[in-house]
Amino acid sequence: MAKGTGQGIGRTSAKGLKVRVKTAKGRKVGSTLWLQRQLNDPYVAKARSEGYRSRAAFKIQELDERFTLFKKGMRIVDLGAAPGGWSQIAAPKVGSTDQNPLIVGIDYLDMDPISGVILLKKDFNDDDAPEALISALGGHKVDVVMSDMAAPTTGHRATDHIRIIALVELAAHFAIQVLAPGGTFIAKVFQGGTEHELLNLLKQNFATTQHAKPKASRADSAETYLVARGFKGAPQQD
Ligand SMILES: C[S@@+](CC[C@H](N)C(=O)[O-])C[C@H]1O[C@@H](n2cnc3c(N)ncnc32)[C@H](O)[C@@H]1O
Repeated sequence: MAKGTGQGIGRTSAKGLKVRVKTAKGRKVGSTLWLQRQLNDPYVAKARSEGYRSRAAFKIQELDERFTLFKKGMRIVDLGAAPGGWSQIAAPKVGSTDQNPLIVGIDYLDMDPISGVILLKKDFNDDDAPEALISALGGHKVDVVMSDMAAPTTGHRATDHIRIIALVELAAHFAIQVLAPGGTFIAKVFQGGTEHELLNLLKQNFATTQHAKPKASRADSAETYLVARGFKGAPQQD
């Protein structure tokens, strides 16, 4: 084990050479591979040096560069916000401040405060979650609903698939209720798992629906993002 690190690093580098992690006693091979990947991931290093809480920050940054998601004064809902990278990117872009917060994030995990962002510690599946999110922004319609949520996996493929789709569909229905006309919905989905029903729902309610996989999304991950823009307006209530 490398001296002082406690991480079992086999070879460290001065010039960005690959860091190899030895499988320490008691650590599973999977965790060793995860640690090795983290240590060699340029986005992890970039996030640390630029003060972002997650490498995921660069995914939304890339999506913003491509689709111009954020503009000053926009209201945003961040679903599955922890540890906070997406909100950190969005807050300065929309000009959200503690005095006039324009962003609300929700996660069932604890999060450290983010300037200009209201954070709710809550499960989005809870019946009262939509109302809590809406009232946090004073009942106003919002311009962007962005979801980086992923349902925890059980290892049972069919169950996992249903849970992932159910969560994205819940987010999409929520977006349709709260978005202002012209609004945008972004959601993490998994390649091969996007149901026709979800795509049909988005196509009915948005002018355009596209898949986008940012470079910061690992190539070996099935995750990709759905970006639905030009919300046509909430359905009329009877
Ligand atoms: C990939 S992380 C999000 C990273 C975040 N976008 C960032 O930039 O830091 C996914 C998050 O979704 C949250 N999540 C998953 N299911 C959720 C649910 N039902 N309600 C609230 N949060 C949920 C997880 O707790 C996790 O923190």
